Amino acid sequence: MPADSGIAEAASVLRTGGLVAFPTETVYGLGANALDARAVARIFEAKARPSFDPLITHLAEAAELEKLVGTVPAAVAALAERFWPGPVTLIVDRPAVIPPIVTSGLETMAVRVPDHDAARALIAAAGVPVAAPSANRFGQLSPTRAEHVVRGLGPAVDVVLDGGPTRCGIESTIVDARGDRPVVLRLGALPVEALEEAVGPVAVRPGSSGQPVAPGTLAAHYAPRTPLRVVSGAEPAAGDDVRRGFLAFRDRPAGDWAAVEVLSAAGDLTEAAARLFDALHRLDGTGVAEIVVEPVPDVGVGRAINDRLRRAAATWQ
Ligand code: TXA
Ligand code: MG
Repeated sequence: MPADSGIAEAASVLRTGGLVAFPTETVYGLGANALDARAVARIFEAKARPSFDPLITHLAEAAELEKLVGTVPAAVAALAERFWPGPVTLIVDRPAVIPPIVTSGLETMAVRVPDHDAARALIAAAGVPVAAPSANRFGQLSPTRAEHVVRGLGPAVDVVLDGGPTRCGIESTIVDARGDRPVVLRLGALPVEALEEAVGPVAVRPGSSGQPVAPGTLAAHYAPRTPLRVVSGAEPAAGDDVRRGFLAFRDRPAGDWAAVEVLSAAGDLTEAAARLFDALHRLDGTGVAEIVVEPVPDVGVGRAINDRLRRAAATWQ
């Protein structure tokens, strides 16, 4: 359904325990009523997601946070105030009304307010917090278009709201700001530099925890079905009979590639992030035997892009 005219019906599907895929500014989410453990269980089934991988709870307004969880640490409140609505997920204590399945039994909960009108209208109309992981099967490419959701999850979803391609194209930055110094648990659409400008130095520890506290930080994740390899710079096509695709940052590679995607001819990292998963979905659909990728400059949102590329490649090692 179109994201604007479908809101009321999608909200009623959420209220009655159904699954609604919806656009956010980052990627499409697969939403269920976060207060309804049975509805949330359907998310894990639809995604074939391991039960140890906690979900992000989405709110319509920053003001809903303290209504849901009570008072939060000052640094968490400051980040919410500064960056919501927006692509930052914050860690708070799980309130008793949120069933443990949402947080995979953790006593903490990840929460954010998406910067997308349809997403916020949907959550507001449903009148409940919405638990939503990215709307893809576990470990696979995140969806940045409604078609990606339909192709990946199909009939497991009750409604897909189509809001066109997502603006950021890469998931939210996850920050635990409960301690002395904020810790980035997952690199994402909000660059570390922007966080530091607002709150001073932060630690970056994606995947440092032995526990899979943020499986978006598992070594192997975000993978296309086609084997993917990261090379250190543009390399010429191998010249053998294997059909390979190349994912370039700004310049078309030399040589005879079966398929080429350029993330940003202007060399703009924000544009590259927005196109990353879309380009990988397209290369995946060309039937090439291998996708070769060059990393992007490792600054700003480029760090999150490189993080996703490394994890996609790790699946094939
Ligand atoms: O941009 C996004 O964050 C998208 C949109 C739909 O909002 N959502 C998303 O969800 O990327 P998902 O499920 O694909 O990734 C959520 C990540 C997982 O890596 C999960 O482990 C982590 O958040 N997470 C959830 N609860 C957590 C918690 N209490 N502590 C640490 N990490 C948590
Ligand atoms: Mg995901």
